[in-house]
Amino acid sequence: MPAPLTATAIAHPNIALVKYWGKRDDAANLPATGSLSVTLDAMRTRTRVCFEPGLGADRVRLDGQEDAATSRRVSACLDLLRRRAGVAHGAVVESDNDFPTGAGLASSASGFAALVTAADAALGLGLPREELAQVARIGSGSAARSLFGGFALLRNQADGGVTVGPLLAPEAWPLRVVIAITSALPKEVGSRDGMAASRATSPYYEAWLHSHAADLEAGVRHVQGRDFAALATVAEHSCLKMHAVMLTTQPPLLYWLPATLACLQALQALRRAGTPVFFTIDAGPQVKAVCEPAAVSAVRAALAAVPGVTRVIDSGLGPGAYRANG
Ligand code: PMV
Repeated sequence: MPAPLTATAIAHPNIALVKYWGKRDDAANLPATGSLSVTLDAMRTRTRVCFEPGLGADRVRLDGQEDAATSRRVSACLDLLRRRAGVAHGAVVESDNDFPTGAGLASSASGFAALVTAADAALGLGLPREELAQVARIGSGSAARSLFGGFALLRNQADGGVTVGPLLAPEAWPLRVVIAITSALPKEVGSRDGMAASRATSPYYEAWLHSHAADLEAGVRHVQGRDFAALATVAEHSCLKMHAVMLTTQPPLLYWLPATLACLQALQALRRAGTPVFFTIDAGPQVKAVCEPAAVSAVRAALAAVPGVTRVIDSGLGPGAYRANG
């Protein structure tokens, strides 16, 4: 019997500074907008993929649990890679996060980036990151960005496709990200369903789409120019605009907790007092504070003092997904 094809990979979550929210094409999982992100080094997903001769269907375990919806998305990515490799075996996939899953900490981004990296290695394909990113984004739009370290950029192209690639290496502008955890519970409405509901019902959705390109171009310019103050303005605006769309969706997508808002106010007060820091929030109640390295201890202390913050994680900018032993 032929030997199983096995490999392990590690990927880190990323957070968007210029957000994406909404799909242009549900079947192809194409985002309605581009996005710009930073990959974080403090949290990670480790995924082992083993294609086994004779195994008919994929078996997927995430943090030890099987989940039908996740399994379908995993199989959709694996099918693309199996076709490329001319391999028909089912795979056993075991994926573990060292941080809360599905709680607005981008576990799907690191998860699908690690999955495609491990599967590519197991099948001996050796595809370039840009191509793996196109497979990862079928599983989760933001996962395409976790193939790359530092600052990553996803752009919609005129031909209907997307390009994803690195914008700036982590060491070129080593910002820090301090994450305030306000709840470790999984969110009630996942991004995919939330985006579909926003497109169908939010009166602000069209305005979000129309004003997005200018934010993305400004974000790219400010990252390239290492202009922290200007990036702070565009990132907070993009985040709050996305949450305005979420709030005006029916039924409303209110991802924040009281502690989320209290963190924003604490960070605004710090910035008014001269500390270089800005906030961003994804589809969940956690607050991510992006700051210059000298500001980390002040930002940590301010967030840790907010009632309802249960844990504070300090992260640097991390590498793109990579193959690991195991
Ligand atoms: O990767 P998805 O399709 O689950 O969407 C994630 C969307 C946000 O995290 C809210 C924003 C972003 O650009 O990452």
